[in-house]
Amino acid sequence: MAKSILSDLNCYELIQASYAAHALHFLTKVKIFEFLVTGPKTLDELNSLSNAQSDILDDLLSLAVELKFIHKNNEKYVIARKGLQLSKASKSWFRGYLFVWAEQIVPGVLKLEDHFLTGENAFKLAHQDTIWDYYSKNSEANEVFVEFMHGVTNQSLIPDIVDELVVGSARSLVDVAGGIGSLAGALASKYEELLCIICDQPANKSNADRHISALGLKNCQFMGVNIFDAIPAGHDLYTIKHVLHDWDDTNVIRILTSIAEAMRPDSRLVIIEGLIDREFPETFDNPEFIHTRNFEQRVWTPGKVRSTKHFQSLCAQAGLHIESVSPSRGFDMNYIECHRNSN
Ligand SMILES: C[S@@+](CC[C@H](N)C(=O)[O-])C[C@H]1O[C@@H](n2cnc3c(N)ncnc32)[C@H](O)[C@@H]1O
Repeated sequence: MAKSILSDLNCYELIQASYAAHALHFLTKVKIFEFLVTGPKTLDELNSLSNAQSDILDDLLSLAVELKFIHKNNEKYVIARKGLQLSKASKSWFRGYLFVWAEQIVPGVLKLEDHFLTGENAFKLAHQDTIWDYYSKNSEANEVFVEFMHGVTNQSLIPDIVDELVVGSARSLVDVAGGIGSLAGALASKYEELLCIICDQPANKSNADRHISALGLKNCQFMGVNIFDAIPAGHDLYTIKHVLHDWDDTNVIRILTSIAEAMRPDSRLVIIEGLIDREFPETFDNPEFIHTRNFEQRVWTPGKVRSTKHFQSLCAQAGLHIESVSPSRGFDMNYIECHRNSN
């Protein structure tokens, strides 16, 4: 990820950037990038394809031209490389992220004052349920989340993890709350002798099975479980990526305890997450984005981005200790290796 430039922007510029993101969300929602994928179009053609009853499209297209998501040639709009990333066909994670942000997270941001005054989760104040209950009742919102989560993991993070994660002599791995298998699938492809088990909510089984079979994997399988009480026991390596930041401390301790109980005394656990760490500056890779990420996490979930010290305390309460912390080249990631305490 490019170095953050947020601190170079003044307040006016930061607010204008947020309007630009809302305009891109709207153009994506009314399928402008889908229409342009099939070829250049005039304003009249785009107005008619999107059933517009107002002249706002003209203005938003001009903005998208300035932002270089669209070009304009001889009165026709032409999709640009950045615009292509917002079309469904590109399968880029930016499209899913734009929808998750605008339709699921921003309503939580608007409830920030109530959250501040009552302590109630901001996402719940906006959507009546916390994130995983909400997704279990709204399959469309869950599909958008899965498109984003699998996309960001697969496209931006997996190459670094596959390169950096020390698998060592492990013969079996459990990826706890591993979604549809982005990480487990990539590791199973690289290490053919490694049995990789994805455990996540049963609702993710069909997407996971499709992913595993598209990769043609024999050494990867999905198990529908509740990570609070049913993690497959006795394996060599456990991973948990971008999960603990979704939960409050009490639930993080419950999840870590459930993993610790599944581990053998010589099993390893690697937590893969961002860290807000003043004590370990080497893990504090992109201070601006890790703080905006933390804000995002706090309005989206009951969790947050934590420090190494915080993880040390939570691990200790789950019967684990941190053996090492190493930064990743990828964004919002470090490898926090934990072992079970000896009794
Ligand atoms: C932020 S996503 C991370 C997915 C994956 N680890 C990745 O990095 O791509 C969190 C995952 O936790 C799963 N999850 C939430 N609550 C769960 C539960 N009680 N049992 C099993 N999985 C759960 C969700 O289904 C989701 O796939």
